[in-house]
Amino acid sequence: MMKERILVIGACGQIGVELTLALRKIYGASNVVASDMREENKLLTGTGPYVSLDVMNKEMLHVQIIRQNITQIYLLAAILSATGEKNPNLAWSLNMQSLLNVLEIARDENVHKVYWPSSIAVFGPTSPKINCPQQTIIEPTTVYGISKYAGEFWCNYYFHRYNVDVRSIRYPGLISYKSQPGGGTTDYAVEIFYDAISERKYNCFLKKDTFLPMMYMPDAIRATIELMEAPAENINIRTSYNVAAMSFSPAEIAAEIKKHIPDFSISYEPDYRQPIAESWPQSIDDSFAQKDWHWSPKFDLSAMAADMISNLEEQNIEKNDQI
Ligand code: NAD
Ligand code: SER
Repeated sequence: MMKERILVIGACGQIGVELTLALRKIYGASNVVASDMREENKLLTGTGPYVSLDVMNKEMLHVQIIRQNITQIYLLAAILSATGEKNPNLAWSLNMQSLLNVLEIARDENVHKVYWPSSIAVFGPTSPKINCPQQTIIEPTTVYGISKYAGEFWCNYYFHRYNVDVRSIRYPGLISYKSQPGGGTTDYAVEIFYDAISERKYNCFLKKDTFLPMMYMPDAIRATIELMEAPAENINIRTSYNVAAMSFSPAEIAAEIKKHIPDFSISYEPDYRQPIAESWPQSIDDSFAQKDWHWSPKFDLSAMAADMISNLEEQNIEKNDQI
């Protein structure tokens, strides 16, 4: 069996931290090299190798891939939807060039598998709102969504033209307690838990009835690894797979939190992120992922909220004990 050497790019972000830790458990700590432009996340410190790396610097990236004998790359560096609207040129440049750098090097070197996430942001106002299908009208209105849709077709192109085994998932909004989200429209669904625990209240930047597709991080990590470990002949979608777990509105998640924290209250002050959220589907049809690699989520809204609250409360107790 080939000994895998994995490079995670953007390892200090919301997904990167947990994905790196999960990959280290499977492939061995020393075989999973974490990399990012920012300082190493403290949850990663001491758990395996870390290199400081700017994915835009193709030469340095190439050197690291050769030096570390990398066989698989997980590319997570990106600018997300809300931050992207503040600096569209930068978002386009990072989201596209990082992918092209990785695909080019994978084609030329011994990298036999690449993972690159897309997003529900590929969909736009003309896509179906409920159970949005894998193949449908796709007319994104954010620079982030445009970059993800273009990226999906680069992945498809490199697979068909150069045989690079690149795989992808259109993640919904991801909810986690280990590492903070980095500038997305769905971030409210994480912030709400932190504020509920520390302030007993939350001022939401989306309207109360804005439904969006969401997923708890343990499901997202499992989906990623299950897709990457599936036999190549089962992977029929070479752009990016729809995956689903739950769909809820700010009012619904607030009601769920209130079951655990009865004095919690929510207010609403929609901002520039409201039209972004309204341009996306409310729920996703993931039947291709179910069929091709047996995708099935474990967490619904109530299981996710209970787990988030118990983990964040535990973290708070540990923090207070240290003071
Ligand atoms: P994040 O912003 O939390 O993390 C991205 C990481 O990339 C950061 O640690 C950042 O420092 C790093 N980075 C930025 N520029 C870099 C560069 N030039 N070189 C090296 N590293 C660089 O993002 P995330 O939420 O972990 O998302 C990871 C991927 O998943 C992205 O492609 C994102 O579009 C996608 N995604 C995320 C969500 C979500 O809800 N979090 C949903 C859909 C898709
Ligand atoms: N969570 C992401 C965002 O809101 C979706 O890709 O940008």
